Amino acid sequence: MEVVICESAEEIGRHVADVFAAVLRGPAPVIGLATGSSPLVAYQELIRRHREDGLSFAGTTAFLLDEYVGLPAGHPESYAAVIRRELTEHVDIDPADVHSPDGGAADLPAECARYDAAIGAAGGVHVQLLGIGTDGHIGFNEPMSSLSSRTRPKTLTQQTRDDNARFFGSVDEVPRHVLTQGLGTIGTARHLVMVATGTAKAEAVAAAVEGPLSARCPASILQWHQHATVFVDEAAASELE
Ligand code: F6R
Repeated sequence: MEVVICESAEEIGRHVADVFAAVLRGPAPVIGLATGSSPLVAYQELIRRHREDGLSFAGTTAFLLDEYVGLPAGHPESYAAVIRRELTEHVDIDPADVHSPDGGAADLPAECARYDAAIGAAGGVHVQLLGIGTDGHIGFNEPMSSLSSRTRPKTLTQQTRDDNARFFGSVDEVPRHVLTQGLGTIGTARHLVMVATGTAKAEAVAAAVEGPLSARCPASILQWHQHATVFVDEAAASELE
């Protein structure tokens, strides 16, 4: 695992955009996207490069990490809506090639199996962007998630619901359940790129990078992945030894 300590979120965004741009220039790119605050600077930089430098997403397939269960169709905080707003509607990717698990499906386990199969049928993800929760989650694999898990329904912890209340009117509006790629699914991506900024993430980053490989910190699976890169600012790196 490579850990890169950056001076600013903008520098992190440029590094992530460099990694994604290299994949986008290759044949039949398959990219893994995260939602939340952490990836936004990288998405803005990718949009800028698309507009100003001609970086193209044509022919790219994208898979989101996760989705809330039970939000009404078209809810602005559904991750399908968020990724459209923050990235995909601003670049030349075909909307039909942007995939997310369907949190409104009648049969959620079947939807999860379908989603894993779709990732496999696309040939797997070339580069997967990840944020990290304050409890060390990636995707919505909360602590004690199975290290070999595949896409499945999960219950959010109160800590994650509290953390995500800022996107909703109140914590009561944050859904209790999600569909998330499993740690095993995420681990099949060829390159994992995790980003974190701010002191609130420092403890989780230290556990992920320097703690034991353990389900207690799901992000610690990056230690065992063949190609993982962590971009952090100095505040998020402040608990590293
Ligand atoms: C979102 C996701 C989550 C977030 C994590 C950090 O798709 O998978 O794991 O990456 O909760 O969220 P932010 O970046 O908002 O702090």
